Amino acid sequence: SKPFVFVTRQVPEVSLTALKEMAEVEVWPEKETPVPREILLKKAEKAVGLYTMLTDSIDEELLNRAANLKVIANLAVGFDNIDVDMASEKGIAVCNTPEVLSDTTADLTFALLMATSRRIVEAAQYIKEGKWNNWAPLLLAGTDIHHKTIGILGMGRIGSAVAKRATGFEMEILYHNRSHNEKAEKELGATFVSFDELIERSDYVVCLAPMTDDTKDLFTYDVFEKMKRSAIFINASRGGIVVEEDLIKALKEEKIAGAGLDVFRQEPITTDHPLLSLSNVVALPHIGSASIETRLAMAALASRNIVNVIKGDRPEAIVNGDILK
Ligand code: GLV
Ligand code: GLV
Repeated sequence: SKPFVFVTRQVPEVSLTALKEMAEVEVWPEKETPVPREILLKKAEKAVGLYTMLTDSIDEELLNRAANLKVIANLAVGFDNIDVDMASEKGIAVCNTPEVLSDTTADLTFALLMATSRRIVEAAQYIKEGKWNNWAPLLLAGTDIHHKTIGILGMGRIGSAVAKRATGFEMEILYHNRSHNEKAEKELGATFVSFDELIERSDYVVCLAPMTDDTKDLFTYDVFEKMKRSAIFINASRGGIVVEEDLIKALKEEKIAGAGLDVFRQEPITTDHPLLSLSNVVALPHIGSASIETRLAMAALASRNIVNVIKGDRPEAIVNGDILK
């Protein structure tokens, strides 16, 4: 019989065609609701492949029950929802969707930066609420983007794509990363600085680092206090990198000027979340890679990753490649 593959959410049907030829594919038939934990555990027991969302926790408990599992394909570049060490120990391939989403996520990150600095959401709301009485010199005046300093934490593919956009705005580009990115330095004029220098010198502090043991809870009150009072903080990676109570405190005390957030510690957030009550916060529902073209490309790549592993070929995008001989 064909190997069983469980897909934890409705994904574009076309992306499953090749997979369905070689596997028995079952799709959790919901667009927005994650599969209940108990059902996921049950499906994982017989699955050879799991096609997962960042909302699914693929942890030790699940992996211990998944005796047949060979591949987990996450529909995301991030994979902090998966216990990769444990999966590696069990010889399970963990795959993600890098590269196909870099430019799209960089576009959204820059849009969020611009929306926050130029108060776009507030201004659009203002006009819709009939508040526009007349032109006024400082009406909804924001802060400039061009010629300012952008500090990018995480100079990978997405960080580089954001830096590229920043060159068009003639920004000074600082970055901090685990390792130097020589290409970004040479081609984009980016300058490597320490984390402290990044947060102290930047007008825009842009977080694109993956969530790891090193970056979890990295942005605390102390960090926000060291930023310029005019600084704007942008987060388009993972909410867990930020201590949200500290960000709220820093915004309320005007230690920083504003924040643009595509991600939160606990997603989804609800309308009573304190960040939503602040006028200098632009909040988005984790849509970094959400263009139709890119979501289709991600879905196709996730599907190919599973096909490849089941066939015994090297998948295009594997996180724990060292498990393959
Ligand atoms: C989305 O957040 C992703 O990791 O692709
Ligand atoms: C993700 O692809 C990154 O390297 O930023």
